[in-house]
Amino acid sequence: MNAPAEAPLYVQPFGEALLQGLRRQPRAVPPKYFYDAAGSALFERICALPEYYPTRTEIGLLQRHAREMAECIGPAADLVEFGAGAQRKIRLLLAALARPARYVPVDVSAQHLHAHARALAAELPALVVLPWVADFSAELVLPQPPPGARRRVGFFPGSSIGNFTPEEAVQFLRRCAVALAGGGLLVGVDLVKDPAVLHRAYNDAAGVTAAFNKNLLARANRELGARFDLDGYFHHAHYDPRAQRIEMHLVSARRQQVLVCGERFGFDEGDALHTEHSCKYTVPGFQRLAREAGLQPQAVWCDDAAWFSVHWLAAPPV
Ligand SMILES: C[S@@+](CC[C@H](N)C(=O)[O-])C[C@H]1O[C@@H](n2cnc3c(N)ncnc32)[C@H](O)[C@@H]1O
Repeated sequence: MNAPAEAPLYVQPFGEALLQGLRRQPRAVPPKYFYDAAGSALFERICALPEYYPTRTEIGLLQRHAREMAECIGPAADLVEFGAGAQRKIRLLLAALARPARYVPVDVSAQHLHAHARALAAELPALVVLPWVADFSAELVLPQPPPGARRRVGFFPGSSIGNFTPEEAVQFLRRCAVALAGGGLLVGVDLVKDPAVLHRAYNDAAGVTAAFNKNLLARANRELGARFDLDGYFHHAHYDPRAQRIEMHLVSARRQQVLVCGERFGFDEGDALHTEHSCKYTVPGFQRLAREAGLQPQAVWCDDAAWFSVHWLAAPPV
């Protein structure tokens, strides 16, 4: 049973989200809270895992088709990358693009964002880089385009769009249709495939995904003084074929209680906290969502195994 705190405490946004997520049934916390500096570093390790095919498959598509993608984007674009992370994939596009007007990497993980934006700006001194700490799951508030920019183009790799439910994805794409009017969105989308491949990707042998998942609890201990016993929860990821999505949970290994921001929460053995889902799409299924949101699918690139796709979606005219 959950006992309210005796005295009201100041709660940070992560704390508020965690409290709300622990109070509801089923318990769930949005995946953006994985990403503090430690979570971002763990995600970088996931990208290098042999089981984690999405990163290398999408990089392969960008390497092979960067020129065609650059033609869709056009010259003098104001490029906005949603969830930019280590800003590795954008380098492949930048190498093929004609005089980008600016690059705006957007991320919630501020320290990681700024460190990688500084490195990119040092590497490409002619490029204007403007790191922008913001939450792309909320209203899209972006900086004014710089003088000389011909159009605004979004880049959303990593299949992060799969972390939204399909309904949320349509809402996000609708916001893009407005924010990117006159330009478009280049978005990486993971595809429906053999569940065994998906299972391996989210249950790696080295346990890095498990550590990434548990970073949510470790972060609560660091930032909120919560007292989660990290050995008292285990990582669980499974594919739900009906919803076409991987679900990640933290599951309590025993009956236990935890104190978060002065509020006590009980877990029975097997009780789960839902931390992420990763929806998988077919190419026509994703294109339907894009059209529903007012974006026009104009090109799509897939690898030979049809594991991953990158879509060019044109936004309506200004
Ligand atoms: C799955 S990683 C992808 C990183 C990189 N784009 C790639 O393709 O490898 C998701 C990235 O988006 C950021 N992120 C997650 N949710 C976010 C949100 N709601 N708003 C802004 N950034 C977010 C994370 O900090 C992380 O850098």
